Amino acid sequence: MTDRTAVVHGLEPTNALSVERVRSVRHWNEHLFSFTITRPPSFRFRSGEFVMIGLPGDNGKPLLRAYSIASPAYAEELEFLSIKVPDGPLTSKLQQIVPGDEIFLGKKPTGTLVTDALKPGERLFMLSTGTGLAPFLSLIRDPDVYEMYSSIVVVHSVRRVSDLAFRTTLESYLSGDPLVEDQAAAQFTYVPTVTREEFHTTGRIDALVENGTLFSARIGGAQAFDPATDRIMLCGSTEMIRDFSEYLEGLGFEEGSNAKPGDYVIERAFVG
Ligand SMILES: Cc1cc2nc3c(=O)[nH]c(=O)nc-3n(C[C@H](O)[C@H](O)[C@H](O)COP(=O)(O)OP(=O)(O)OC[C@H]3O[C@@H](n4cnc5c(N)ncnc54)[C@H](O)[C@@H]3O)c2cc1C
Ligand SMILES: NC(=O)c1ccc[n+]([C@@H]2O[C@H](COP(=O)([O-])OP(=O)(O)OC[C@H]3O[C@@H](n4cnc5c(N)ncnc54)[C@H](OP(=O)(O)O)[C@@H]3O)[C@@H](O)[C@H]2O)c1
Repeated sequence: MTDRTAVVHGLEPTNALSVERVRSVRHWNEHLFSFTITRPPSFRFRSGEFVMIGLPGDNGKPLLRAYSIASPAYAEELEFLSIKVPDGPLTSKLQQIVPGDEIFLGKKPTGTLVTDALKPGERLFMLSTGTGLAPFLSLIRDPDVYEMYSSIVVVHSVRRVSDLAFRTTLESYLSGDPLVEDQAAAQFTYVPTVTREEFHTTGRIDALVENGTLFSARIGGAQAFDPATDRIMLCGSTEMIRDFSEYLEGLGFEEGSNAKPGDYVIERAFVG
């Protein structure tokens, strides 16, 4: 039986935070859950950005953490995909939320995993580990992204099969999504890989690149990354991002930012 010590109502908004209501919660396994909250009419963001969210801390002040928004810029609700860190200051409470509970939402979303930080290209590869999938769930559900790139690829590397959150939706090429299902059916590819259990694909992302598994016929084009045609977004563990950034720089890819768009962009899915 869950101890709902975190049940919260009557939160007070601040200059930097609005108070939103939890609409739905889905637990994927003992490490992962996702949830949706109300979106204030004034809240604007670009698909792929992150925002601070939180609950009251033990001292009564807001306890906030950065979270990638997993829903697209056009969506009515805001969706998030969250880890459950054992004894984590925020997630030990956040994992107890149920529909109707209140939650703090920051007013200033930001981030580099946005198409504005990339030069135009043909193929967009989004490489993620763990909860690093979250910003890419936003981008692949945004119709504008399908106008900018002919092929959109999400690679998700996790330890266990049950860590493949949103697997059914992604495997169906977003079937039933009223905004993008037609475009995704033609342009979207999902490449899940599970590194610590039996699965049809079991290599780390770098191994899938090296042996060509990542470049299926559906994606089209070359069987390797090419800075002339490809744009890449990285989100996940610090080590994965460091290793891949070095690899991509060696191939001639240049890192982009909001101020200076480039060939690839990065964001750590967590610190530590
Ligand atoms: C830009 C940015 C975007 C982020 N987006 C997300 C997101 O969409 N979903 C999400 O779950 N978290 C995300 N995080 C991490 C998030 O901010 C918190 O760290 C996480 O919610 C845990 O909070 P906590 O207070 O329970 O534990 P913390 O004290 O914040 O973390 C404790 C330890 O848990 C581990 N950890 C924390 N977060 C993760 C994670 N996501 N995956 C694996 N290990 C982790 C790390 O080792 C960390 O040192 C993001 C972080 C950054 C910087
Ligand atoms: N299933 C679980 O047990 C589980 C699930 C979620 C979270 N957690 C906890 O949360 C923390 C983080 O776990 P996580 O699973 O989200 O993240 P993680 O340990 O970073 O693993 C996620 C995926 O990234 C791969 N990876 C790690 N480093 C890489 C690198 N340098 N290059 C390429 N790929 C790399 C992993 O492969 P490898 O397997 O080869 O390392 C795995 O497929 C851990 O403390 C863990 O205890 C555990």
